[in-house]
Amino acid sequence: MTSTDREYFQNMYDESTDPWNFATSSYEQRKYALTINSLPRERYHNAFEPGCSIGVLSELLASRCERLLATDIVSSALEQAKQRLRKYENVVVESRAIPGSWPDEVFDLVVLSEVAYYFDAGSLRDILALIVRSTLPGAHVIGVHWRGETDYPLTGDRAHELINANDQLRRIVHHLEEEFTLDLWERVT
Ligand SMILES: C[S@@+](CC[C@H](N)C(=O)[O-])C[C@H]1O[C@@H](n2cnc3c(N)ncnc32)[C@H](O)[C@@H]1O
Repeated sequence: MTSTDREYFQNMYDESTDPWNFATSSYEQRKYALTINSLPRERYHNAFEPGCSIGVLSELLASRCERLLATDIVSSALEQAKQRLRKYENVVVESRAIPGSWPDEVFDLVVLSEVAYYFDAGSLRDILALIVRSTLPGAHVIGVHWRGETDYPLTGDRAHELINANDQLRRIVHHLEEEFTLDLWERVT
């Protein structure tokens, strides 16, 4: 399997409007708070959050960014995200699959939250090359992933090892818990 296909996620959203309980789980709320509080800069100019789902983390990111592009591949999730984020004029919600429909923009923050392990190593490396291409030195990439066993192409730990192996990204935050890993990398020259 190279990357988890859209039908997999579509089926999950057909069964539940919030399949991972992002809006209600105290585990998710705490993880989101750690994610936001790990961002070294108060403000980012242009942030990209692929795999935004129903936009719960996007709402927290909205107040830290001049502009946020939040994307997903499931239209029903995006409809919820649009509703949740409609009061934020700085947030753009779009249907886009990565790596294929990567936006032609320059970002100073890329957020990979519970999304990198749905790709195999080759596809994740392609995504990392796109991140490097669409960022300048000093930009930040944050990754947050569950560490349990998965039937996805990668585990959370392996996904972070692959990001860490990219020589254009230098890790400056490392937070490891039994259930999830959170790292933040800075784009180097
Ligand atoms: C587990 S959810 C993560 C949600 C969000 N990032 C968070 O942490 O709250 C993964 C999301 O990634 C989306 N997704 C999966 N493959 C994708 C792809 N190739 N491009 C964009 N989004 C994708 C899924 O539809 C799903 O909504």
